Amino acid sequence: MDLASCCPLMRGWQARVWVIKKRFEGVPKLSDFEIKTETMASELKEGEFLAEALYFSVDPSMKATADKLKVGSVMPGLQVAKVHESKNKDFPVGVYIHGYFGWREWTINNGKTKDNQALTYVLPSFLNSENRRDDTESLNVNHLCVSHGLGMLGISGVAAYVGMLEVLKPKPNDVVVVSSAAGAVGHIAVQIAKKVVGCKVIGITSGKKKGSWCQHYLGMDYHINYMTQDVKSELSVVAPEGVDCYFDNVGGDISNAVIANMNQYGKVAMCGLTSEYCGGKRATINQWQILKEQLLVEGFCVSGLRWKHKWMKPIEDLHKWWAKGKLWTSESVLLGFSRCPEAFIKLFEQGNIAKTVVCRTMSLCNPVTRLNGAKSSPTHLENVLNVKLIVKLLWAYCSGSETFIVAAPYFNIMFLRLYLYILSLYSLMKKCIPINKMCIS
Ligand SMILES: NC(=O)c1ccc[n+]([C@@H]2O[C@H](COP(=O)([O-])OP(=O)(O)OC[C@H]3O[C@@H](n4cnc5c(N)ncnc54)[C@H](OP(=O)(O)O)[C@@H]3O)[C@@H](O)[C@H]2O)c1
Repeated sequence: MDLASCCPLMRGWQARVWVIKKRFEGVPKLSDFEIKTETMASELKEGEFLAEALYFSVDPSMKATADKLKVGSVMPGLQVAKVHESKNKDFPVGVYIHGYFGWREWTINNGKTKDNQALTYVLPSFLNSENRRDDTESLNVNHLCVSHGLGMLGISGVAAYVGMLEVLKPKPNDVVVVSSAAGAVGHIAVQIAKKVVGCKVIGITSGKKKGSWCQHYLGMDYHINYMTQDVKSELSVVAPEGVDCYFDNVGGDISNAVIANMNQYGKVAMCGLTSEYCGGKRATINQWQILKEQLLVEGFCVSGLRWKHKWMKPIEDLHKWWAKGKLWTSESVLLGFSRCPEAFIKLFEQGNIAKTVVCRTMSLCNPVTRLNGAKSSPTHLENVLNVKLIVKLLWAYCSGSETFIVAAPYFNIMFLRLYLYILSLYSLMKKCIPINKMCIS
């Protein structure tokens, strides 16, 4: 336990933050960020609470938000945190919360947010302490973790839900195209269209591996690799009947190509512009196509006033679908506060799959802890002596389970570690990325 967790409000205590060191030029670089410390107040005011960051979310739009901030500002962003001290009855000690606190390890906050900022709230009961299923018994059961409060059961899931069901409102058998289909929002949007509504879904991603991951795990019907294929002509092959709905995560040329293939009365939900945030070519609005086909193009921002007070309904529905097995999610997890910039940069380098989060401390991210059902981190010796756990891991591997996990780094006996590493690597090579929680350590 570090000093801060014993006595976080000790006078003059310094907490780490990531600040913007230099203006971003194009894709952000590691050298554009630096770690600084800020002094925590020694006492909470009435209405305030002190929260410890557990997981940080990275989202491409943080680039656009950061561009508007002064050099030296703390990097903006969402996090899941745990309340340690509180003078606010809505945020009692011990709860896990969602907050727009930026890249800081410790935060003193009053729970109020600005108009266009995502809300600060206590995570729903299925993600909070006792009800959380991070002690899953079976390796084949997808399990929830507080980090999902940033992905499927947080901003990414809400954006997918609102864009798909409130903006596009597709009907069964409609042709739906999702760009950045393997991304945090995209992989949920694909599944809502496919498994909840029953549409024909075409996903656009950057590579063959991401495409086959989407088809295998999300049930997507077709995949277009925009790096090697011409999106416009490929769409006319896989969807000769035309496109009814387009969930746009990226903007740019990809959007031009999809909109050119749209049917009469087609709808476009503009969720994000990832290809444009770092100076990429802007989409040219095809006004003639919009007029001729009478398209409806609608932008939405779930942390804006129109949607932010309706967050819980999407989260409850998504949780219900997940519990029924209709929805599946995955996370790319980077370990350690120091890796926030790296996680963020990966978003612009096609380096991530599904939701990317940064786990601040190692013990939280320990998949072995979760598999054991242990409330606290077991020791390495306990792990190695846990025959049931080892049999589970090996069984998962042998049966080709999609939840074969990279648990190896948590075993301290060299040969076992090495053995599991080899199995992990072999498994990764064999079946693209067959795990529901990747620890990129
Ligand atoms: N409207 C809202 O309320 C709302 C809420 C959350 C997020 N968003 C926005 O929704 C979009 C998706 O967010 P996310 O969190 O799910 O991110 P994401 O899709 O996981 O973002 C990373 C992915 O973007 C793709 N990408 C990166 N550079 C690209 C480029 N130059 N051209 C095309 N694709 C590129 C890459 O996928 P490939 O390898 O497949 O290219 C990369 O893996 C973002 O624009 C985000 O800002 C909007």
